[in-house]
Amino acid sequence: MATAEKTAWIEQELASLKEQGLYTNIRTIESPMDGRLVVDGKKVINFCANNYLGLANHPRLREAAKQAIDHYGVGPGAVRTIAGTMSLHVDLEQRLAKFKRVEAAITFQSGFNANLATIPALVGRGDVIFSDRLNHASIIDGCRLSRAEIVAYEHNNPKDLEKVIGETDIAGRALIVTDGVFSMDGDIAPLPALYEVAAKHSFLLMVDDAHGEGVLGEGGRGIVDHFGLHGKVDIEVGTMSKAFGVMGGVVAGKQIIVDWLRQRGRPFLFSSAMTVPDTAACLASVDLLEESTELVERLWSNAEFFKNEMNALGFDTGHSETPIVPVMLGDANLAQQFSKRLFEAGVFAMAIGYPTVPQGKARIRVMNTAAHSQQDLEEGLAAFEAVGKELGVI
Ligand SMILES: Cc1ncc(COP(=O)(O)O)c(C=O)c1O
Repeated sequence: MATAEKTAWIEQELASLKEQGLYTNIRTIESPMDGRLVVDGKKVINFCANNYLGLANHPRLREAAKQAIDHYGVGPGAVRTIAGTMSLHVDLEQRLAKFKRVEAAITFQSGFNANLATIPALVGRGDVIFSDRLNHASIIDGCRLSRAEIVAYEHNNPKDLEKVIGETDIAGRALIVTDGVFSMDGDIAPLPALYEVAAKHSFLLMVDDAHGEGVLGEGGRGIVDHFGLHGKVDIEVGTMSKAFGVMGGVVAGKQIIVDWLRQRGRPFLFSSAMTVPDTAACLASVDLLEESTELVERLWSNAEFFKNEMNALGFDTGHSETPIVPVMLGDANLAQQFSKRLFEAGVFAMAIGYPTVPQGKARIRVMNTAAHSQQDLEEGLAAFEAVGKELGVI
């Protein structure tokens, strides 16, 4: 059978995605990641990136990466356990543990990998995972890989968590897992209440703080710091691919858990270490975060200004409590058209539809950052107002 015949079903699926407005058109960026970008040859305001603190193109990170390349080269050469652990990796883990105010930290190639490593190392067949219904795909995949029973509870609802725990037979271990900040809505997990449930039942509690790292807590120390839950949350997963401006994942928490992940975290054991420039740049991010809270403060004041103005214009920004601002539109085709018109008006803000968000809940997601100037925000708002009126949204 020819390949075209064997893949005819893919052709049909792709055509159907296009029809429903769910086909993702990937744009190409031709400039450094910043508040403004050159995208597909056009200069635009960037509301798409998770570059919360504007560190992705920070001179200190660039310099740190260059110097590390001069000293260590580029690639790690191996997985961490064989020959891939360089002194840079050890330094980064020690600095992250200190920054996060925990006993120990272990790094991974990405936040996605950190979840794939952690969940199957902690629970397996015969165990149960209680997972927020809106958890990130990497948590869901980590749960599936573990082969534990997965029980979803209603989003951010500790009462429902209690209810489903009561309805579940738990023969082995149990883990409660949640996103810290939900990336599509910008709302924050009720971690103190989840901790109460976990403590009452003696279950492990894990939070994936990908969007809280560098954003929430004192100087960006994350959700555990934000709620003052040090020592109470067993596993804090984070990423250095967002506010830290680079790439990489981290698990921070008790020494015993970190020790176990070094023995049993499969992406740690079977995939090469973080690269030299990434690791060095992450170290520079920790330096910057420890030196000053200025960028975190600018991020929050930009986000507050933008969100207030959007609400005043009449946009529905959902339940956002963070710099992530969903502009709720509902229909996927409308969201795609809105994003296209914004781009023509000089604003890069992506439409997000199913399966990233539920059917009928399509939106434009605006990522506010410290890299935006007041002028960026005002021009961005003017474009939203014009397109919103043109398309009858406001
Ligand atoms: C909650 C959450 N976890 C994990 C990840 C993956 O992080 P990384 O890009 O470092 O793989 C993301 C990124 O989208 C995320 O939002």
